[in-house]
Amino acid sequence: MKIVLYISSFAVFLFTILDYVDENFSAEWREHQIKYGQMLAEKAADDSVEVDLPEIRLRQIYLSEMNRVDRCVSCHMAMEDPRFADAPKPFAAHPGDYLEKHDVEKMGCSICHDGQGRAITLEDVRAWDEGKYWEKPILLPPFIEANCYRCHTDTLAQTPNYNQGKRIFETSGCLGCHQRDGIGGYLAPEYRGIGDASFHIKQPTDSLRAELLAQFKNPNVAYIYESVRYPTAQPANSVMIDYGFSHEDAVAITVYLKSLTAEQTGVTRLLEYRATEPALLERGRKTFQLYCRACHGENGSGGVKNPNYIKDEIPQLDLVAERLFLYEKEDADVIVDVIRKFGDLNLADEEPDVPRFPVVLAQYNAIRDVISNGNPAGKLDPEGPPPFSMPSWEKSISAADINAVIAYLITTYDFEEDDEDYDDEEE
Ligand code: HEC
Ligand code: HEC
Ligand code: HEC
Ligand code: HEC
Ligand code: HEC
Repeated sequence: MKIVLYISSFAVFLFTILDYVDENFSAEWREHQIKYGQMLAEKAADDSVEVDLPEIRLRQIYLSEMNRVDRCVSCHMAMEDPRFADAPKPFAAHPGDYLEKHDVEKMGCSICHDGQGRAITLEDVRAWDEGKYWEKPILLPPFIEANCYRCHTDTLAQTPNYNQGKRIFETSGCLGCHQRDGIGGYLAPEYRGIGDASFHIKQPTDSLRAELLAQFKNPNVAYIYESVRYPTAQPANSVMIDYGFSHEDAVAITVYLKSLTAEQTGVTRLLEYRATEPALLERGRKTFQLYCRACHGENGSGGVKNPNYIKDEIPQLDLVAERLFLYEKEDADVIVDVIRKFGDLNLADEEPDVPRFPVVLAQYNAIRDVISNGNPAGKLDPEGPPPFSMPSWEKSISAADINAVIAYLITTYDFEEDDEDYDDEEE
């Protein structure tokens, strides 16, 4: 019995030793540091200067405030050494001026790159392997742009993909169905949190998984990309509109959505145009693009199919002027000016000088009611699936913005004696 105990404890001892040797003498980072020392010595010899070779040891940046430990610098030894600009990875100096603008000792690396900060093998750092199932695999460019918005709130020139994605998002009416931070439609999931959704739950579908993971490495990125580029991948009967986005546009939107994590705020960013562009029609146009465009078409031109709807297509809205009996551009301008001046047609200090104003006002209020309260859409086949209904917007859109949208929609009408047409004829 005793002998068994001896043997087994010796075995444990042996494995502990082997493990220790593996971690400390043949570890990847150790080999990288030895190689780095050699490269440093060669460069010093070329420049005929003396050099103190750095000690070979595990290095890390400890960030107490964030409770993070980043050991990346154990392998990436020359991050801030311009002489290593053209060296192979992991010896290459950091590209760009990111480390000049940000103090690595205070920020570490994984705040921008993700990856497992504590890991000491490349495989574990990356966590790209499907079997790893760790929540923060290393992000590659351009998706790394998403993490800049962990701290920055103003749009940065260094994040062109994010910026393009944000632009597409804000002009495509995604919020007609989705919500962001509780604002928007209610046919589709809230976006906040999609950037760090657990990929135990949100995974690319079986038929696309292998291809998308090979392309993007990161399952969260692959899932978001799939949802945007192939909306009917899951479920096949999704009501999400297929915008036919190009690969580049889908990547840009993915970068943008990747930034919408639980801990990143950003409500202010979505609505930032309010502060910078108070002009009534611009405000109305932006509100329309943010919430209404997907269903009512570009500039309200319609043409969007509504499955199992009695009228087949979602109504076009560039005829709102007609609904208000504003057939002449001069009359429409008078009404838009009143909305601009008083915020609301009902608040005009005297009756505007347009024909049959009380009827115009009644129609205006009817349209405003539909936008505020929504309207159910009638089914064609009573047994069939529900069509899109007009959602209610009073919880998401301020009264001022709803008035601005109506003013904007009035101007989208094709007035026959448009000044521009007139000019064209004269030329
Ligand atoms: C064990 C050594 C090691 C550690 C620790 C390490 N790296 Fe690396 N890293 C490498 C090597 C080697 C490469 C080059 C891989 C290649 O080109 O095949 C690399 C490549 C990269 C790349 C290029 C993209 C890629 O994955 O090929 C990035 C970005 C990167 N590392 C960031 C980090 C960050 C951030 C950390 C810390 C969270 C880190 N690394 C920790 C060894 C390491
Ligand atoms: C402020 C954010 C930020 C911090 C902090 C940061 N990086 Fe980067 N890093 C970037 C960006 C952005 C790129 C891509 C730059 C480009 O493509 O021009 C990049 C590129 C890299 C690359 C090259 C990737 C490739 O595919 O060629 C490596 C390696 C890397 N970083 C490692 C690190 C390590 C290690 C640290 C910590 C010592 C670190 N970074 C800290 C933002 C950051
Ligand atoms: C951990 C938070 C954090 C992250 C992540 C971060 N930054 Fe910064 N960044 C800062 C801080 C803090 C400053 C310094 C602000 C100051 O005092 O001007 C700064 C400064 C900058 C500046 C210089 C601003 C100026 O006016 O000169 C640029 C440009 C910049 N960051 C771009 C980026 C980009 C691009 C990324 C993503 C790759 C990024 N940052 C990620 C916190 C961060
Ligand atoms: C007509 C309604 C509608 C519009 C407009 C719409 N979506 Fe969706 N979207 C959905 C529905 C419904 C789902 C839920 C899953 C499904 O049925 O496909 C969804 C799912 C998603 C998902 C996956 C969300 C998750 O949490 O799993 C993403 C990402 C997404 N949409 C992005 C977009 C983007 C970006 C736009 C705008 C360019 C957009 N959607 C516009 C209806 C819509
Ligand atoms: C999810 C799709 C969807 C979105 C998003 C949407 N609508 Fe609608 N809207 C509809 C449908 C469907 C109808 C027709 C309902 C019915 O049959 O009465 C409608 C009707 C209307 C009408 C009445 C049109 C008429 O001819 O009677 C107005 C005005 C309107 N929507 C404005 C808007 C505005 C403004 C927004 C954005 C703030 C918006 N809608 C967003 C689906 C949508």
